[in-house]
Amino acid sequence: MIGYLCCMKLIFATANLHKLQEASEILGPGFELSTPAANGLTDEIPETGNTLEANSLQKASFIRERLGADCFADDSGLEVDFLDGAPGVYTARYAAGDVRFKDNLEKLLFVMKDVPWEKRTARFRAVVTLIIGNEVKQFEGVLEGRIGTERKGQGGFGYDPIFIPNEIPDLLGNDVMPGETWHLVPNTAGLANAELPEGGKNAISHRGQCMRAMAEYLKSRK
Ligand code: IMP
Repeated sequence: MIGYLCCMKLIFATANLHKLQEASEILGPGFELSTPAANGLTDEIPETGNTLEANSLQKASFIRERLGADCFADDSGLEVDFLDGAPGVYTARYAAGDVRFKDNLEKLLFVMKDVPWEKRTARFRAVVTLIIGNEVKQFEGVLEGRIGTERKGQGGFGYDPIFIPNEIPDLLGNDVMPGETWHLVPNTAGLANAELPEGGKNAISHRGQCMRAMAEYLKSRK
């Protein structure tokens, strides 16, 4: 019965199992996360807003209405300065309909192929919406970096092989465990997100920042 009492149960409004795993690692053992599908909801979660805030709220509200449970949703995007902040809220659909490119990452590498290093600045931004009881709270996270010139690494997902964060945690050799103390240091080796151990990426990522802020908030209201 101890197991029954130990965790706060939350549905994470995503079908992306990689994101679920990241969130579980970031939030740690005090939380039991599940997907809508694991709760019997397989409908596509709508995402029709023009901002990360609107989409994240839309996804969380959809789960709340359908399943009546405490839940959270994230929406994230990559803002490239050379492209005036694009693809931004449309990051997931960047290459959609463009028959020349089989995926988003390939299109971005092509579009940026002649852009010099100093003009390749970009950031991942995430907004997480938590709906718990009658409360709705949003948390924002930002990871600053640059768009690399080639794919590197096997970890992460999405654009991780071409995103070079400006700073990385100093504990990378041992990975970073939840709750461990680490410091940010300049990413002098130019490692891509996909070359960082999972814990290293989570320590700095836009979603990691949101999740840790959400975890702090949830602990503070207990
Ligand atoms: P969404 O938040 O699931 O709508 O994702 C938006 C887009 O950003 C998708 O194409 C994701 O692959 C990409 N994305 C979001 N977070 C990350 C990340 O941590 N690393 C790499 N790509 C990401």
